[in-house]
Amino acid sequence: MITLKNVLKSYSSEVSIGPVDLTIAEGGITALVGPNGAGKSTLLTMIGRLLGMDQGVIEIAGYDVTTTKSQDLAKIVSILRQENHFITRLTVRQLVGFGRFPHSKGRLNKADEAAISQAVDFMNLGDLEGRYLDELSGGQRQRAYVAMVLAQDTDYVLLDEPLNNLDVSHSHSMLQTLRRAADELGKTVVIVVHDINYASCWADQIVAMKDGKVVAIGTPPEIVQRDLLREIFDLDIEVAEFRGRRIAHFYLPVPMCDHCHKSAGAGCCLDGSPHVEGPVSLTLRMPA
Ligand SMILES: Nc1ncnc2c1ncn2[C@@H]1O[C@H](COP(=O)(O)OP(=O)(O)OP(=O)(O)O)[C@@H](O)[C@H]1O
Ligand SMILES: [Mg+2]
Repeated sequence: MITLKNVLKSYSSEVSIGPVDLTIAEGGITALVGPNGAGKSTLLTMIGRLLGMDQGVIEIAGYDVTTTKSQDLAKIVSILRQENHFITRLTVRQLVGFGRFPHSKGRLNKADEAAISQAVDFMNLGDLEGRYLDELSGGQRQRAYVAMVLAQDTDYVLLDEPLNNLDVSHSHSMLQTLRRAADELGKTVVIVVHDINYASCWADQIVAMKDGKVVAIGTPPEIVQRDLLREIFDLDIEVAEFRGRRIAHFYLPVPMCDHCHKSAGAGCCLDGSPHVEGPVSLTLRMPA
């Protein structure tokens, strides 16, 4: 279990993340969603003890991330940052080997090599393991970094936008791998995703953030609701059910009211909350 109590990070007098109180249950996949700048990466890097907090307490499996020794925490929690991935003359296999450092202290044994091979296979990187990182495409490199995190073999895995740069097929297999890690290996996986539908279809729990605060937490059907999505993303998004999952249709243009230029359903006369006096004739049109 991950618990955050009264956690606050202030970047400046205008920008702060928190205070956040949050419990992430053990096991399963938790998806952090929210608009750019909401505070998702800040929260994740504080949980992953790569960023200090100004106030509050974070515990992972009962270990206080501020006071527990880094080498001990590294056996419990691994994290992939959103950016600042180093690209050096390392091969994929060498990079993945770095994930074993907390266990091997730099001297890889047979068990370490086996864990590296498993992570390479999990990310479908067998053909690329001898390639240098700067000879890979963006998506291939992303998979190599995730393999490094998986090789660390921790009970808690934090991934900031693991689907970055991935095509639909690799996004799918990444999510399948994370599901297996949660379901078969009992790992607790926390990911940041921008596509609310991946969160809806693959996560057990969604934590929605906005303006540095957690605004909602619940199961996908509880969070993927038109009103809540509008509050979080400032966009009117239709939601429909497909094979028992809630799918947000954010690709569609939102019909606009010709009279007031508000989107239909967002306070426009059409949804029963008139905002213009007198009889008006309304037509809906798609935005140009
Ligand atoms: N090192 C920093 N110094 C000052 N402000 C920062 C720093 N890092 C982040 N911020 C600010 O903190 C807020 C939260 O940023 P954060 O990176 O956590 O958002 P995010 O939800 O991960 O966004 P995105 O979806 O764009 O990755 C933003 O307003 C950002 O500008
Ligand atoms: Mg981020």
